[in-house]
Amino acid sequence: MKSSPTEIELDIETISHEGLGFAQTETRPMHVRNALPGERVTARILKKRKGQLYGDAVDVVHVSKSRVSSACDYFPRCGGCNMHHIDPRAQLELKEGWLRNCLQENGIQPVAWNTPQRAGLVGYRHKARLGVRKVAEQVFVGFRESFASRVSRMDQCAVLTPELSRLVKPLKDALGAMEGAHRIPQIELAQGDDGVALLVRHLDPLSEADLASWRSFEKSTQARIYLQSGGYDTLEGLDGRSMDLLHYTVKGSGLVLAFYPHQFVQVNFAMNQVLIEHILAYLDPLSGQRVGDLFCGIGNLSLPLARRGAVVKGLEFSEDAVAMARNNAELNGLRNQTGFEVCDLYAEECELPPDLSTLVLDPPRTGAGPRLAHWMESFNGSRIAYVSCNPLSFASDAAVLVDAGFRLRRVGVYDMFPFTAHVETLGYFERAI
Ligand SMILES: C[S@@+](CC[C@H](N)C(=O)[O-])C[C@H]1O[C@@H](n2cnc3c(N)ncnc32)[C@H](O)[C@@H]1O
Repeated sequence: MKSSPTEIELDIETISHEGLGFAQTETRPMHVRNALPGERVTARILKKRKGQLYGDAVDVVHVSKSRVSSACDYFPRCGGCNMHHIDPRAQLELKEGWLRNCLQENGIQPVAWNTPQRAGLVGYRHKARLGVRKVAEQVFVGFRESFASRVSRMDQCAVLTPELSRLVKPLKDALGAMEGAHRIPQIELAQGDDGVALLVRHLDPLSEADLASWRSFEKSTQARIYLQSGGYDTLEGLDGRSMDLLHYTVKGSGLVLAFYPHQFVQVNFAMNQVLIEHILAYLDPLSGQRVGDLFCGIGNLSLPLARRGAVVKGLEFSEDAVAMARNNAELNGLRNQTGFEVCDLYAEECELPPDLSTLVLDPPRTGAGPRLAHWMESFNGSRIAYVSCNPLSFASDAAVLVDAGFRLRRVGVYDMFPFTAHVETLGYFERAI
């Protein structure tokens, strides 16, 4: 039932893992932003790709009870979030539902489910990569739009920390006056407990006038500016200054972790804190345990485990991250209880350290990788905590662990990125026999 050549009335059947409503048109499937299962919507077609349609719900004829009016002016075009139209409680139910389905599809029946965890809804994002686009005399700084590579028009952002959000408008103004703004494709923002850093990617050398503008921006905002002419190894401060470390605190354990602004850290510090507390509770007592922390990054999980008395061996393929993990162990007086090694955990030559009693896994989206079953042959311990940012790979890895004789004792979702479709999971496995 077309109401105009580019608008179509649809019944939304489901919602995808990307937060898009899904419907079948007369001819092909359509993915709809700002739409919910059970709704009848008028959708505007914005894009056709590989036999599928993409668009926006411009009118909702039959409204889902999970719908709320978006508090974000930039939703749904801005690609930073995709769930501002969903009641926050319903967002958690959806995320838990996706995880349940993934586990079911892999034949995994958890013994118990944890209540979904949340630590605040807005102002949580301590890191973000924003695009920069100059169109005529106007400069946009924002997340990329979800159906296009355009930069969204935003002046602030509800999910960024207030300190980072406050920088968006001054950045647009400053870039608007720079001659080389059209050669700056992106700026990364990072915030620690002790300051803010901006990583400015530039494709051409900056003019003296633009350098002076960045100096004055740094002075007026107190945000540290780092220029990046190529990869991260080209990062340098203004006037050749070296990079400063940022820090965050893991409350409760009294740990302070340092990181460089381009390094991986969990962007939601409060949710990270809850995740760590739950891991420590699952693995208690830790004193005397030998823990392998696989995909350990800068030691975010290793050091709280060591602080509780475990001896921790961390493995990770980023040399920079391993160097920072060692630095963090030193900084917190845990050098004697920890060891960190560079190792590609997806590669055949990387073996598990011997005699581990406990494993912690926190892999990237692709999951623990092809060696998981092999590791289970040599792992004689009885407890595994698995942190995941992708329910699909978590569920298929859970099946490998179950085949190896483990049971998923407890599992739950942690809302690391409210208003987005990102699902963070923590699962606790115990040897069944
Ligand atoms: C989700 S992060 C977790 C980091 C850390 N556990 C934390 O809590 O901050 C995943 C980590 O896996 C690392 N990684 C990705 N692929 C890897 C591989 N093939 N071998 C080892 N580490 C890898 C990344 O560098 C990153 O530090």
